[in-house]
Amino acid sequence: MSLPRAQRLQRIPPYPFREVAILTARLVAEGREILDFGIGDPDMPTPGFVIEALARAAQDPATHQYDESGYGIQEYKEAIARFAARRFGVEVSPDGEIQSCIGSKEALAHIVWAYIDPGDMVLVPDPAYSVYKVQTMWCGGSPVPMPLDPDRGFVPDLQAIPLGVRRRAKLLFLNYPNNPTGAVADREFLAEAVEFAHQWDLILCHDAAYCEVAYDGFEPPSILEVDGARDVCIEFHSFSKTFNMTGWRVGWAMGGKEIVDALSTVKSNVDSGTFMAIQRAGIAALDHYDSWVGDLRSRYQERRDALVSGLQSLGWPLEPPKAAFYVWAPVPKGYTSLEFSRALLEKAGVLTIAGSAYGDYGEGFVRWSLTIQAEDKLGTIERAIEAIAADFPDLTW
Ligand SMILES: Cc1ncc(COP(=O)(O)O)c(C=O)c1O
Repeated sequence: MSLPRAQRLQRIPPYPFREVAILTARLVAEGREILDFGIGDPDMPTPGFVIEALARAAQDPATHQYDESGYGIQEYKEAIARFAARRFGVEVSPDGEIQSCIGSKEALAHIVWAYIDPGDMVLVPDPAYSVYKVQTMWCGGSPVPMPLDPDRGFVPDLQAIPLGVRRRAKLLFLNYPNNPTGAVADREFLAEAVEFAHQWDLILCHDAAYCEVAYDGFEPPSILEVDGARDVCIEFHSFSKTFNMTGWRVGWAMGGKEIVDALSTVKSNVDSGTFMAIQRAGIAALDHYDSWVGDLRSRYQERRDALVSGLQSLGWPLEPPKAAFYVWAPVPKGYTSLEFSRALLEKAGVLTIAGSAYGDYGEGFVRWSLTIQAEDKLGTIERAIEAIAADFPDLTW
């Protein structure tokens, strides 16, 4: 087939994990055991109460047709509104302020299509999940990186954004708890960001996919808790990480009516909603949230503690993350991110992701995912630490 792909596809950066994927496949073919801290995909199963709700709902023919509502079925939006009130203390109307989506990724992509014309600017964190940047490029816009500086706790310096960019930017993406850094934002920073959005007349898109994976009693806030946020914000939530439901493709966006309506308009021209039985399963998930989330958090926290203290015992300068299931570890002296993640894989059989895969400002770090793809989670961490100790005796930072 000689038909060239559309220019927008040709313009996207090469798949950042390709080289590591090829190397991993080669090592596995050679019979090497790989300790997998790579992909951020929950290794634990979806809870039974969600599966049972889906099974029941799938038996009901009323769920088998198109979801004509466009925004999501009423009961689903009402369950989200109840959850938002309980969890964040915010009132969100099921009538116009909530949009069901096919996982949060889909909605994060489509919000860009709702607002960005060629030549527009979009402020995106760097390092970051790639969707914000790629979709901006596909719409002919310019992604402008906001560096996430370790010295600022991986929170961007909004005051450092040049005036010309503030004037031309239409969207500003934030993501807390953050992938890949594991950083969190406090209410003060979120309030500053909301004020910035008001002042410069831009829409703040808050990716809250990891909002429920948090440690040490920390409860990540919603941006909608900030006064005045609703006029300028849309927040993206997901069942994927909270309920081990990445494959189910279900989430929601909530925020100001006009912004949600813009997203809904794009979606109505692209997809026909989420399977209604899955929306009903989502209701069951949210209704069981309180009895479920504590166990989820403590399992990841146990892994976090084991990995962080193991790395610290090797001299790694590192603090435990407060949320998300990633440990963002600085690279030892003498290596780039890619060189170090490659060396970890080749020598110690430990699969991590080079920070530079998430943007230029991810250089100098590797990301360890706590979604360990192995039966024995703590044993895998222990073996990884032992392997690094044996294979890298002289690391300095
Ligand atoms: C920062 C971030 N946002 C959003 C998503 C999308 O998750 P989903 O589409 O499964 O809701 C991911 C997935 O890894 C992510 O890391």
